[in-house]
Amino acid sequence: MNTIIIQADEGVLKEVDLNTASKILKAGGLVAFPTETVYGLGADALNPMAAEKIYEAKGRPADNPLIVHIANPRNMEQIASEIPAKASKLAEVFWPGPLTMILKKKDIVPFSTTGGLNTVAIRLPADRIAKDIITCSGGFIAAPSANVSGKPSPTKAEHVIADLGGKVDMIIDGGKTTLGLESTIVDMTSNEPIILRPGCITKTMLENVIGNVEYDKAVLARTLENNIIPKAPGMKYRHYAPEGSLTIYEGNIHHVVSEINKKAKEYVLAGKRVGIIATEETQELYKHGIIKSIGRREDEDSIAAGLYAVLRDFDDIHAEYIFSESFSRSDLGQAIMNRLLKAAGYRLIRVG
Ligand code: TXA
Ligand code: MG
Repeated sequence: MNTIIIQADEGVLKEVDLNTASKILKAGGLVAFPTETVYGLGADALNPMAAEKIYEAKGRPADNPLIVHIANPRNMEQIASEIPAKASKLAEVFWPGPLTMILKKKDIVPFSTTGGLNTVAIRLPADRIAKDIITCSGGFIAAPSANVSGKPSPTKAEHVIADLGGKVDMIIDGGKTTLGLESTIVDMTSNEPIILRPGCITKTMLENVIGNVEYDKAVLARTLENNIIPKAPGMKYRHYAPEGSLTIYEGNIHHVVSEINKKAKEYVLAGKRVGIIATEETQELYKHGIIKSIGRREDEDSIAAGLYAVLRDFDDIHAEYIFSESFSRSDLGQAIMNRLLKAAGYRLIRVG
């Protein structure tokens, strides 16, 4: 398939390109576009055949449901059969933005979009290009992250082109995404809202608006504090994984740096290709392997924004072993560590 690749200027899509994208989507095709979190692979959410194309292009298991993206909050009523008061409140405060809510679905939403579930995930993104595309293409666009299943989510158009070039109709290059982690997912179908995936809208932020919110057990299981957490088996943990074997070192940062230096030296001397995930503050302290800064420790947003690109960079150079520093688990740190731990298959070593 010939993939049309379009450059957006300063976050805005030319009208002619917007028309092309909307024609493709209305005809049941696939268009990848930027959102403020990660790039999404869009298809008409109400067309069962279009949603099936997404699964095929991504190599995604058909029971993994898609998020329906809307551009107007009122459109929620057309696809959700019940909207609890707390969901309306969250929509009011956090949309447009990186929040996805799970609600009971209406019949109009095909089961191929919801992976056979009676619920539907809904998000209203903040990105201008995303909103324009959704508005011009019928208002309901299913968009999973625009990566091949198993790869880190794409935060740059280059990532999308590498994964999906030749497999989709159009890719829109809107530059680097601002947030870098997928949206927070909250299940609103039970009495007590449950966070299924932590993201940039944190538990504290949600609770400030609607009171108590719980983490899903699976999210908490990711915060096990054992000395060494073994690689967890199972497909879902492979989602964010780089090709190389990733190990996270946790503890006093000076001890972490010295332990990573020791390991990196040992592996480099053994002829292995080693990558180190460092930060602006620490990158100068490493002596062996290929060192990449993920962002500034002082600025958690920059860490979130840099994580996936660094994991992909290490894939590009075929790093066999990757050693990473760890990050705080308060608020946004919870989302960062959730992705990093998954990428590491839970290999976490406490030092000091
Ligand atoms: O930030 C984001 O959410 C990005 C951008 C493109 O908007 N999209 C994204 O989609 O991350 P995806 O498909 O990569 O992740 C969607 C997640 C999956 O883990 C899926 O299992 C979950 O949402 N999900 C979707 N519908 C669901 C439902 N009805 N019940 C429970 N989980 C659901
Ligand atoms: Mg994804």
